[in-house]
Amino acid sequence: MTTPTQQHDILLQIRNLNKNFGGLKAIQDVTMDLPAGVITTLVGPNGAGKTTLFNLITGHLVPTSGTVHWLGQPLKGIEPWRIARMGIARTFQDLRLFSHMTVEENIMSVMERSSWLWQGGRAAAEKRVNEILAETQLTEKRLERAVDLAYAERKFLSLARIMASEAKLWLLDEPASGLDPRSFERFVALLRDYASRGITICIIEHNLDIVIKLSDRVAFLDQGKLLAQGSSQDILKDPHLAAIYFGDRS
Ligand SMILES: Nc1ncnc2c1ncn2[C@@H]1O[C@H](COP(=O)(O)OP(=O)(O)O)[C@@H](O)[C@H]1O
Ligand SMILES: [Mg+2]
Repeated sequence: MTTPTQQHDILLQIRNLNKNFGGLKAIQDVTMDLPAGVITTLVGPNGAGKTTLFNLITGHLVPTSGTVHWLGQPLKGIEPWRIARMGIARTFQDLRLFSHMTVEENIMSVMERSSWLWQGGRAAAEKRVNEILAETQLTEKRLERAVDLAYAERKFLSLARIMASEAKLWLLDEPASGLDPRSFERFVALLRDYASRGITICIIEHNLDIVIKLSDRVAFLDQGKLLAQGSSQDILKDPHLAAIYFGDRS
């Protein structure tokens, strides 16, 4: 049997990563890889350190010790905007859309920062925006302001912005939370489609239904430590992990 690491190139390599906030050890000696084209879900109770791990990858936080390498290059000391340009895009739990811009402007603003407009000219950029709008079913909302969208539409707009970034690695912080079942199915299909085209995805997710349907691999974090990695079946059927996950440590 081959493991994902044997089948795929490792894009992101995390080694012995630690982050302390004063006396709190938010991330403790975490070592993990994100292989190309694989969907990894990061699960664990509230406060486990999931968002902190994202912040350490994207340069929003500086590790206390340990390393993160992207395509073989250390990310130490590189500013978040530069890391984003290197191909690592993220969403935030609070989405951080430009509320008073239209759907289209929210997407275009990302593309202006990436290479699209410059390489293929305005026509290529507009074609790509139309594709993204169609894939996220936001075509009819393109001229509406983000603030006026329904909840699920805002979630899809956040994803549309990631799609527009042309990033190779997507870090998604609870992207599907609160989606209705139909939106959820569309969401899963869209992420699977992009993963099959070689996009590497790491998702923080609480909904175990999503974890099971979406993940190639699950990484379980608790109190800053990576307790286990494996298939969703292996992780979710482990009674010890289930007890931690559901808050029963007795
Ligand atoms: N900037 C910060 N300063 C101090 N403590 C923080 C900071 N960010 C997170 N923490 C703490 O680190 C721990 C992990 O937080 P977080 O990564 O947000 O957890 P999760 O996303 O898994 O719910 C929590 O105890 C949280 O209070
Ligand atoms: Mg979080």
